Amino acid sequence: MTNSEQPGASVRTLAKKVCLLGDFGVGKTSLVERFIYGRFNPLYQASIGVQTRRKVVMLDDLPQPTEVKMVIWDIAGSQRLSDNPMRESYLRGSHGALLVCDLTRRETVDALRGYVEDLARVKVDMAVVLAANKADLEAEREVSVEEVAELATAMDAKYLLTSAKDGRNVEAAFQALAEMMAAVS
Ligand code: GTP
Repeated sequence: MTNSEQPGASVRTLAKKVCLLGDFGVGKTSLVERFIYGRFNPLYQASIGVQTRRKVVMLDDLPQPTEVKMVIWDIAGSQRLSDNPMRESYLRGSHGALLVCDLTRRETVDALRGYVEDLARVKVDMAVVLAANKADLEAEREVSVEEVAELATAMDAKYLLTSAKDGRNVEAAFQALAEMMAAVS
């Protein structure tokens, strides 16, 4: 029996803003599409502006069952704070960040340190999960799992190897973020 099935266990509801960060074409929009609609589009359409999507994640295994109403902000491309101060309004008020890199392009992994610096400048102590994406493209991989793990440790973040294409660990990445955000509420 899960907590939510126990008689009298009231459900706590949390509203949380999540931002996606990562270079052009790493798969930010694709991860959201997979998570919310369970679909994958192999064609690249560069995002324009900001899109927000909503999904409720249920956490049944906490002492008090909790639903996390996630508002996921997906912003175009890779502008850093230093390139565009408007990005601050995107990051501000976020409770969590999904940092996304593309395992087939080393420069997108190296770029993550810059995004972490931006986060620190706007708000410290944000829940951070690193999604090392395109894990399905094994033959084209430029970065090892060990390197990703090392980077995640340095950032104090949890990491998962994801694929928006085959769906591996996509749900788990957002679930991990929801758990981390619920833990600080
Ligand atoms: P911007 O809009 O430029 O910020 O890009 P983005 O980070 O939102 O990337 P997007 O989701 O548009 O994906 C870019 C390209 O990579 C598309 O052609 C996707 O189909 C492809 N792609 C995304 N995720 C995966 C994945 O896990 N595996 C594979 N093989 N391709 C992927």
